[in-house]
This record gives sequence, C-alpha cells and structure tokens, in this order.
Amino acid sequence: MRIAVIPGDGIGVDVTAEAVKVLRAAGDVFGRAVHLEMLPYGADYYLQTGISLPPNGYAMLRDDFDAIYIGALGDPRIPDMRHARDILLGTRFELDLYVNYRPVRLLHERLCPLKNRGPEDLNFVVFRENTEGVYVNVGGRFKAGTEDEIAVQEDINTYKGVHRIIRHAFEYAKAHGLARVCMADKSNAMTHGHALWQRVYWQLAGEYPGIDATHLYIDALAMQMIKNPAQFQVIVTNNMFGDIVTDLGAQLQGGLGMAASGNLHPGRTSMFEPVHGSAPKYAGKNVANPVGAILSAALMLEYLGATVEAAAIEAAVKESVISGNGTAEIGGALGTRETGDYIAGLIND
Ligand code: IPM
Ligand code: MN
Repeated sequence: MRIAVIPGDGIGVDVTAEAVKVLRAAGDVFGRAVHLEMLPYGADYYLQTGISLPPNGYAMLRDDFDAIYIGALGDPRIPDMRHARDILLGTRFELDLYVNYRPVRLLHERLCPLKNRGPEDLNFVVFRENTEGVYVNVGGRFKAGTEDEIAVQEDINTYKGVHRIIRHAFEYAKAHGLARVCMADKSNAMTHGHALWQRVYWQLAGEYPGIDATHLYIDALAMQMIKNPAQFQVIVTNNMFGDIVTDLGAQLQGGLGMAASGNLHPGRTSMFEPVHGSAPKYAGKNVANPVGAILSAALMLEYLGATVEAAAIEAAVKESVISGNGTAEIGGALGTRETGDYIAGLIND
C-alpha cells in the first residue's frame, strides 16, 4: 500500500514520526509492504516557496496513493491559515471526503474528566459532514474595517450532502450491530438549512426499523454528552457542530491528544489525521501525546483492509494507556518518542 504522509506543522511533525514508527513496526511484524512517501507541505514549505500544494497536488494525492496521512497544520506566521486551508480543507473538498469519522472511546476511567464513568460509558462515533456547511467559505465582507461593516458567512446544506452523511451513519450502525443513531442540528433556529436535515433524517430513519433514531438540538447534545454519554452509539451532525462536539468528545476520552479521525469517501483515497492541531508552543519538545496520531494510522489501516494490523496497533495503544506508559496527558512520564517506541514494541501477532 502507498501512503502519502504530510507531517505538516508544529507537533504534527512530532506525532507523525511516532505514527510512522508504529506503521513500520506493524508492517514488519505482519509482513505487509507499507510504502510511506514523506511530503514536505506545510508552513515552512509555503513560506519558502509560496506553494501550499503544487497545482496537480490533489490529483496526485488522489491518484498516486491509497491513503493520505496528515499530522497537523497551522502556524502563527501564517495568520490567515492559507496553507492549512489548501492542504487540509482543500483535500477534504477536492477529494470529496464527505465523512469525517471521529470515534470517541475511553480507554481507561482515570482519563475521563466525568465522575464515575468508565470505558463502558464512553464508546461512540461521531460522523461529521465534511464538505459543506459554513466551511465552504461562501460569503463576503462589505465595508470591511469600518463601523458599518457587514460580514456574511453562508451555511450550505445540499440534499446530496445531507443525505449521504446520514445514510453513512445508518449504514455504519447497521454494519456494526448498533441500535442507536442520534442526529444533531439547530433546526429550531436555522429553520431553512436544518429543515433539510430534519426531512432527510426522518425519511432515512424509516428505512432502518431496527435502529432507534433520535434527534437532539446541538446545544442539548453537548449537555447530554456530559450528563449521560453512555446513551450514544452513533452521532451524525453537520460540519461545524461536528468540529465542536468532537473536541468535547476528545476531552471526554482524556484530551485532544487521544482522538483519531478519518476523512473518508468510501471506496476512494481517503485522509487520516489526529483531531488535535499543531500546538506550536509544544512543537519539538518531545511532550505531545502521539496516541491520537497512532490511532489515526490504525483507522487508516482498517480502512485499507489491513484489519489485523489495525487491531494490533489498537491493542498496543490500549495497553500503553492502561499501564500509564505515555505522556503527561495520560498521567505518564514518557516523551513523545518514548511513547512511540513503547507502543511500537508492543506490536505483535
Ligand atoms: C479539525 C480542525 C479544522 C476544522 C481546522 C484546523 C480548520 O479544527 O479538523 O477539527 O475545523 O475542521
Ligand atoms: Mn476541530
């Protein structure tokens, strides 16, 4: 399998090195050829060359690789996030990666900020629509910089976009034997765009009689994720709400450094990245938690059909977290590199 690897910026570089280490270890143990092509795109490259991605970049990523792995993007020297928009959001849009798959799974109760919640209480997935909503950046500013300024940021919801992400959520639940799907929107205030979510959701729910389909307004979802997270198995929501609740979900499983994600177009070249950002102040200090990055690599292998390798990585991560062999975020005393070494060393068949 051929993987494009873009470590990117800040701690993206640190944690990607560990994900690569673990991927190589899994490749060696199971005898599968994993070809990793390291690509230089990120803030430094952009500042040196003016290029975020080359002109044929998206086609190259889509056509030359089986999957794409990204560390993190974001750099204070590029305040408008131009390069990150091109590389991260651009890849989501141009490769039409409409499913942002973000599992929320607590590996040990001591990591959860909620009282008396264990791994059995926190195990759900969020499907975040990944190609529409406010992220399309349609809008504009009128009289910018004056006291008369008007700023418009449109929320785009299409039948096709809403339908395919909700369909995906139900199909995932069905394929994994899960009984509950919850859709979250803000249809009480956004009575045009989110009326579409309502219509499509209840229409599709009717096709899955074995699944208990529920709805929560997004504010209530945030509250319920704290109050009783055990009620959730599959959550589906729009791009921005999904962005927000997956940070909340990350914290429930022990911190942003724990959370993994896949940006998918089922059947096509897809992209995998930890949920966290580039955290510039921790970059290069050997302190970032590589677990989210390593679990994202496992999601990638699973997507590519290397399910045994993926399960071995997940088991190794779980063991390291339970035994406290990790970074300060999980209460451990190891650095980023030592955590990667430890997890890689646990991979076995
Ligand atoms: C994420 C990030 C991105 C997003 C940012 C960097 C644009 O927060 O992947 O969750 O909002 O999608
Ligand atoms: Mn986010």
